[in-house]
Amino acid sequence: MEQTLSIVKPDGVKKNLIGDVIRRFEKNNLRIVALKMLRVSKKEAMGFYIVHKDKTFYDSLTSFLSEGPVVVMVVEGDRAIPKVREIMGATNPKDAAPGTIRADFGSDIEHNIVHGSDSIESASYEIPFFFSTLEIQ
Ligand code: RTP
Ligand code: MG
Repeated sequence: MEQTLSIVKPDGVKKNLIGDVIRRFEKNNLRIVALKMLRVSKKEAMGFYIVHKDKTFYDSLTSFLSEGPVVVMVVEGDRAIPKVREIMGATNPKDAAPGTIRADFGSDIEHNIVHGSDSIESASYEIPFFFSTLEIQ
């Protein structure tokens, strides 16, 4: 059993895709074990995406994440980390495999609907960033 953090980003919430994202996880035998909607500040977004602090897109990425409400969730299951990444599709919707969330709904590389932890290390930073152990079922 593995746990990963996923976020329906502000564009996904605006496009009414919260249910669709959750549905795709659940259909693939993954369980939602924690869930909440919130708005992150620019500063919090900078902390969350600190691994990207030297990237050219760091400023626009963190502004985007803080521009509207997001839904954050902990997703659990066998191989949950790679499974969520497969269901999401490649970072750039143009390169994402057909049938993935990003291929179906993403607008461009920066507005790609969902986030998913990319490794055990990032999941173990990202899950406690949003949830205390008491909030995870
Ligand atoms: P995420 O962290 O959101 O799940 O996405 P990812 O692993 O597929 O991609 P990552 O390399 O971690 O990039 C994080 C987010 O930054 C934006 N980005 N913009 N303009 C660009 O070249 C660029 N590259 C990445 C995307 O929103 C990406 O999801
Ligand atoms: Mg990433």
